[in-house]
Amino acid sequence: MRIILLGPPGAGKGTQAVRLAEKLAVPHISTGDILRRNVAKKTKLGLQAQPYIATGKLVPDDLVIEMTAKRLKENDARKGFILDGFPRTLAQANALEDLTEIDVVVNLFLDPEDLVKRSTGRQVCPNCEAVYHVLTNPPRKTGVCDKCGSDLVQREDDKEEVVRTRITTYEQLTEPLCMYYKEKALLRDVYASGHIEEIFERILEALRR
Ligand code: AP5
Repeated sequence: MRIILLGPPGAGKGTQAVRLAEKLAVPHISTGDILRRNVAKKTKLGLQAQPYIATGKLVPDDLVIEMTAKRLKENDARKGFILDGFPRTLAQANALEDLTEIDVVVNLFLDPEDLVKRSTGRQVCPNCEAVYHVLTNPPRKTGVCDKCGSDLVQREDDKEEVVRTRITTYEQLTEPLCMYYKEKALLRDVYASGHIEEIFERILEALRR
């Protein structure tokens, strides 16, 4: 299946994408993760993207489209994929149409204040990219990754003022994609409040619809 996970920052796209990718045996393609890897390695793309990510703005379309097109051409994406964080603008959605077909778009939605709590409490593993939350999804040992034992960190764009900018950016540039995919009869809305496993079940149900 070729699935897009749409939704504002902190809605739980990454958390659910990992589970869905495992269940469906397709790759989880997160443009945020690919960009952060480039930032960490200080590649040309990473250096170009870093100021946008740090301030909660979108990385320019041409850079992200080229990067995603390259990833979608890799062998493992032929059998399907979970796209997390792409597309985020109408230009990206149009470019994606030229690259591949999409079977379903799952739109995770949540109250804005809950989004802020989720993002500001998030901790991530800089080594294996596992995602935790200090209150709702803590690691077994405080500050240490369950999977690889590395020290957890806060994403630089998870400071409250940057989170609020990211939510505004989402509302202005990405939310219009809900209508775009609704008109194509691809959109399935899923309420993203509740336990992680409960939301996973809602997504599976939405995929069966
Ligand atoms: P990206 O990494 O894509 O960030 P985002 O879309 O803002 O989404 P997040 O990763 O913040 O949240 P999420 O929905 O994945 O939630 P998560 O599962 O982690 O992008 C970062 C930046 O890169 C962008 O701002 C932009 O600059 C750039 N970028 C990326 N793609 C781009 C594109 N296509 N075009 C241009 N620029 C691009 O969950 C959040 C927290 O909540 C976690 O702590 C988690 O443990 C917890 N949680 C999850 N589910 C639940 C639950 N049910 N109950 C309680 N807690 C939960």
